[in-house]
Amino acid sequence: TMEVIHSIADLRSRIKEYRRNNDESVGFVPTMGFLHEGHASLLRKARSQSGLVVLSIFVNPIQFGPGEDFERYPRNAERDLQVAEAAGADLVFMPSVSEMYPTPIRTNVSVTGLTSRLCGASRPGHFDGVATVVSKLFHIVQPDQAFFGLKDAQQVAVIEQMVKDLNLGVEVVPCPTLREKDGLAMSSRNVYLTEEERKQALVLSQSLDKAKEFVQSRINFTTNELESLVSSHIATAPLAVIDYAQVLTFPTLEPFENSHHIDSIIIALAVKFGKTRLIDNVIIQLR
Ligand code: PAJ
Repeated sequence: TMEVIHSIADLRSRIKEYRRNNDESVGFVPTMGFLHEGHASLLRKARSQSGLVVLSIFVNPIQFGPGEDFERYPRNAERDLQVAEAAGADLVFMPSVSEMYPTPIRTNVSVTGLTSRLCGASRPGHFDGVATVVSKLFHIVQPDQAFFGLKDAQQVAVIEQMVKDLNLGVEVVPCPTLREKDGLAMSSRNVYLTEEERKQALVLSQSLDKAKEFVQSRINFTTNELESLVSSHIATAPLAVIDYAQVLTFPTLEPFENSHHIDSIIIALAVKFGKTRLIDNVIIQLR
């Protein structure tokens, strides 16, 4: 049966005990809770590959900017534990903010280059907060594998770079984006949307579908063509305010003009509906 653990010391000793008695791998799924099917899919993937499945639920204050939604980020521990158990978690680590940050933090993990565009540009400091907390969690859990969703593709690129640069010895396993039936990418933040915003939010996945079709119908294209196609579809939703709609190489996240000689691209979107900021993306292998 699943165990819920609040202290770092207890989690460490529980994992140490597992390692003493087992040869199987430890899989780790870090989250901020308010779990949905996307999170559950990561847990199921971990369940299928790892002997021990560790889930963390921690709304990490240092990855939220001033004026962002840290205080009102949705939380429901009781329901999360039900979802976690059904999806196969063994240990759930739910630390308090003071357990993770007992004193003001004076060490920062900062991944450069990959964080200069997309969410890195519109949310200054965000990826430092993510890299720092994920690095702390990796040191606490010391997993063999860690599972991340491609819904946050830039986050995956940043974590992979950090693991490589700092020799963290964790295998990062990227997992596909889960969507609602109508195409909206699942997100804990979807609960913020009003009924009308929820309807109009469909333009994100629709515009990515259109972009994919366009790419597949062409031998070559420019990023300008693709970005205009996506932006003009998003603009059909009167409540949508585009933060970015950008085409870059993947996983290197560099701009390019013409697709000639490019192997793999990401079309990445961040769009605001009222106070709610949604992201989505598609990664396309060109050759
Ligand atoms: P959170 O937004 O809770 O997401 C936790 C994990 O679930 C991330 O790897 C994310 O990419 C994945 N995920 C979210 N929505 C998904 C979907 N629709 N389909 C598949 N996977 C999805 O990402 C974070 O938390 C934090 O930044 C964290 C890594 C925990 C560090 O604080």
